[in-house]
Amino acid sequence: MRQKIVAGNWKMNKTLQEGVELAKNVNDILAKNAPKCTVILGTPFIHLTEVVKTVDSKNIKVAAENCADMASGAYTGEVSAAMVKSTGAQYVILGHSERRTYYGETDAILKEKVDLALANGLLPIFCIGEVLEQREAGKQNEVVKAQVENALFHLSADDFGKIVLAYEPVWAIGTGKTATSAQAEEIHAYIRSVIAAKYGKEVADNTTILYGGSCKASNAKELFAQPDVDGGLIGGASLKAEDFYGIIEAYN
Ligand code: PGA
Repeated sequence: MRQKIVAGNWKMNKTLQEGVELAKNVNDILAKNAPKCTVILGTPFIHLTEVVKTVDSKNIKVAAENCADMASGAYTGEVSAAMVKSTGAQYVILGHSERRTYYGETDAILKEKVDLALANGLLPIFCIGEVLEQREAGKQNEVVKAQVENALFHLSADDFGKIVLAYEPVWAIGTGKTATSAQAEEIHAYIRSVIAAKYGKEVADNTTILYGGSCKASNAKELFAQPDVDGGLIGGASLKAEDFYGIIEAYN
């Protein structure tokens, strides 16, 4: 079902102790101000178990930022979807542009990760988005369509219904340069039309599509007010409880 979601992506920030403290602070704020959207904390692997224990699962769900493209075995340093699931996390962020760019994650690799996540009962938050040159060449629609098709369109309608999409223009991530609400709406509506063409209108209407890229308290309300923007995936502004709550509050 289409939901409103504000999801944090801590990336490679916070020691275990700092992360638990941040989770506790977000939890305390939400205990007093019940969120009107689904709130997710995306944390490094080592934080997951403690963050799950720290937060009230009624108000906060927990996500990993990645999982392996293999089920188990001799893959030193990797963390499987089953391991993530065993921490109590419910979601996993997959296909973030930093994973694609710095760690060579291709659509084919991401397809494996999506399948393993779903097979292990994790809900993927699947990231797509174009880089600046692609936007300047007017190719953003083509790029996001291919990313969705290549990694997700092998799924049954049932399984596709478990995916949360996050449109994150790479030129807006960590740059302070947000897409305008009109730019976000235009491409979110396009993504929804691509889903409708493959799975039908009902599935498309039920798909949650988040915006990510320099989203903060000051622009969240306008972005989230767009009919096809169902919330945000938040990097920098998820690292302080008050900043993150400022975005969650866009739905209150
Ligand atoms: P940002 O990151 O909010 O710091 O731009 C968003 C993301 O990468 O998910």
